Amino acid sequence: MSNRRRDTRIRIEAELAATKAELERANRALALNALAGAIAHELSQPLTAVALNGLAALRHLGGGGCEVAALRESLQHIVSDADRARGIIANFRASAAGLAARLETVDIADVVVEALGILDGELRGAAILVDNRVAAGLPPVTGDRLRLRQLFLNLVTNAVQALSGVLDRPRRLTISAEARDGRLVVGVCDNGPGLDPAVASRIFEAGISGRPDGLGLGLFLCRTIVQDHGGEIAVAAQSRETLFHVALPVPASGA
Ligand SMILES: Nc1ncnc2c1ncn2[C@@H]1O[C@H](COP(=O)(O)OP(=O)(O)OP(=O)(O)O)[C@@H](O)[C@H]1O
Ligand SMILES: [Mg+2]
Repeated sequence: MSNRRRDTRIRIEAELAATKAELERANRALALNALAGAIAHELSQPLTAVALNGLAALRHLGGGGCEVAALRESLQHIVSDADRARGIIANFRASAAGLAARLETVDIADVVVEALGILDGELRGAAILVDNRVAAGLPPVTGDRLRLRQLFLNLVTNAVQALSGVLDRPRRLTISAEARDGRLVVGVCDNGPGLDPAVASRIFEAGISGRPDGLGLGLFLCRTIVQDHGGEIAVAAQSRETLFHVALPVPASGA
């Protein structure tokens, strides 16, 4: 091989190595951005709840006569929301450390009740009529309970935000579930404005938001959670209705 050809090959190899290193750096930066976004997204609700309950506790203290029962309730909320934030961080740490998700037998009816309980303040604040039709006795699924709860927290939070603009009719949120063909299909439906056509076909992608202050991560995280559980998520919307369907596989013994 001539000296010139060898030099050219060495130069091309060096350029290729540099490009590869650059791509790896960009990939790592993207992964870190996605992780930071996911942590910010999941922690913002419990932290907001802690701050609101802290303010409520201070109000109870400052009201002259201290309302002990109300104060205790606010403090209990603070402890459980802080605990929830700790659980979220522990989950992220475990997955960053490469530990497999903790799989449990999960009753979706319980998870839905938990998510609605956590968002009770937001739902009441927006005067949303909640119709939880998820019956007891449905077959359980196998999964990571905290992540499944996060899935419903994200869907219900979106519904609350969508319904906040509804002024001409009662605001409704309906959650239902049924076992069908070896899967548990859960529907989360609101009578908000339907989907913004500008984002409708891409709402499960990261960074796609129809709200000025949205990160566009909630549904991306929902889809990741559902897919990690071997399931599927879909949306159907029309004016005055948005319906999300989550289908999760039911283990053979529970079908
Ligand atoms: N129930 C709903 N009704 C109407 N539009 C919805 C509903 N759920 C989601 N969307 C639309 O899909 C977009 C993406 O939702 P997603 O949860 O991924 O992000 P986001 O809510 O904008 O921001 P965040 O990252 O804070 O959740 C929303 O901005 C909104 O335009
Ligand atoms: Mg959202």
